[in-house]
Amino acid sequence: MNKSGHILVVDDEESMRFFLEETLKKEGYAVVSVGDGKEAVRRASETEFDLITMDIKMPGMSGLEALLEIKKLKPEVVVIMITAYGSEKIAIDAIQKGAYDYFTKPFDLDNLRIVIRRAIEKRRLATENDKLRRELEKRYRFDNIIGSSGRMIEVLELVGKVVDTNVTVLLHGETGTGKELIAKAIHYNSHRKDKPFIKMNCVAIPETLLESELFGHEKGAFTGAVSRKPGKFELANEGTLFLDEIGDMNLLTQAKLLRVLQEKEFERVGGTESIKVDVRIIAATNKDMKKAINNGGFREDLYYRLNVVYIMLPSLRERKEDIPLLFEHFMEKFNKELNKNIKHIAFDAMELLMKYDWPGNVRELENVLQRAIVLEKGDTITREYLPMAIRMRGEDIKLDLDKAEFFTSLPHAIKGIVADVEKQLIIKTLNSTNWNRSKAAEHLKISRKSLHNKMVRYGLFKED
Ligand SMILES: Nc1ncnc2c1ncn2[C@@H]1O[C@H](COP(=O)(O)OP(=O)(O)OP(=O)(O)O)[C@@H](O)[C@H]1O
Ligand SMILES: [Mg+2]
Repeated sequence: MNKSGHILVVDDEESMRFFLEETLKKEGYAVVSVGDGKEAVRRASETEFDLITMDIKMPGMSGLEALLEIKKLKPEVVVIMITAYGSEKIAIDAIQKGAYDYFTKPFDLDNLRIVIRRAIEKRRLATENDKLRRELEKRYRFDNIIGSSGRMIEVLELVGKVVDTNVTVLLHGETGTGKELIAKAIHYNSHRKDKPFIKMNCVAIPETLLESELFGHEKGAFTGAVSRKPGKFELANEGTLFLDEIGDMNLLTQAKLLRVLQEKEFERVGGTESIKVDVRIIAATNKDMKKAINNGGFREDLYYRLNVVYIMLPSLRERKEDIPLLFEHFMEKFNKELNKNIKHIAFDAMELLMKYDWPGNVRELENVLQRAIVLEKGDTITREYLPMAIRMRGEDIKLDLDKAEFFTSLPHAIKGIVADVEKQLIIKTLNSTNWNRSKAAEHLKISRKSLHNKMVRYGLFKED
């Protein structure tokens, strides 16, 4: 396609066709011309035109009929009607039926050139915006959130219920479990999707600046406030504000945030004007908020304001059955991004991925796969390029007597070796039950509680 635009000229008069074609070609457009309405419809259905100039009065199918047909097929195409002097009424009818503009013969050529250029630019911008928006929407559509395990389906069902409401959502999950991904999915699937999604990380910002970051400040509010600055709340107006790591927000800012949530208005730092906003809040934390409340680190009233809907994201080790799907997803993604053509994963490599307990969750899996895909020369991921920690999981249980030499006494050495063996046996059992703790406990003939305690002791499970 021509860089500056592709135009179809429709006119039954040969001299007019020739004249328009030549003029527009000189302007740098790629031009095709046809002599009747039927042919115009056929061409328009086959080729992507940016713009069509359409004579109204033609034998056979009229310009108006052709316009209607074309608009049905390609609603986005720009059509400019050309009409004889005295038939403006029909031209106005055409505009009501979707034509972009009209010209009366004989027309001012400069004027026509300008209108065509503007129409093409406008259409190009619209298509680009559309494309960008579609890409963003696609990126955060639900089908990019991978998971078919029971736990993830529960999460996605809950997400589906809250997307198109304004309720505040609190996302809780370990690092890398997809809190930000879900927050964005909620925004980009809601009616706020064309408005801003603003993220604010409550840990990354020094305490003294947090308040002005959130609410903005007036000029001269404090040293360094050289001009008025809007805060994240103002920037997110009509959109979504994602408050990440909310558990780390200081108590003073918590009090201010609570007020905004209650009253939906606030003042900039150093200001008196009260600002009203319409912002949907999504908060995220990897902390146990109940504990933070008990320790006095988090306000209980604010917690209940944020926790209108609570979504707990499962760790990856609680949903290991999703690993093969996640592998497919990341393989496709990195093949594209890194221009690779990985097609499979070796059976033993997948086995290792299933055995590992993924403390960094999906992010860790993503990084591990990216690295393996970069390094892999063939079309199959092998265990060779998996990190040591993951490959170790596959090794059989063996007594590490080398390590025992460093113990100071025999009872100590024995205790260490027993603990090591116990840990490995527990991992092996958990792996064989897909990390189903009830089944593993049953198999090991210990109580769930005792298994839980051992898992905490051996770092296999985060204490909650
Ligand atoms: N269910 C999932 N499907 C596909 N990709 C996922 C999923 N969950 C997480 N990811 C990917 O894993 C990475 C980490 O996710 P995200 O940043 O949302 O995690 P987080 O919970 O916000 O982590 P942190 O607490 O460390 O900020 C991202 O690249 C994200 O796209
Ligand atoms: Mg995050």
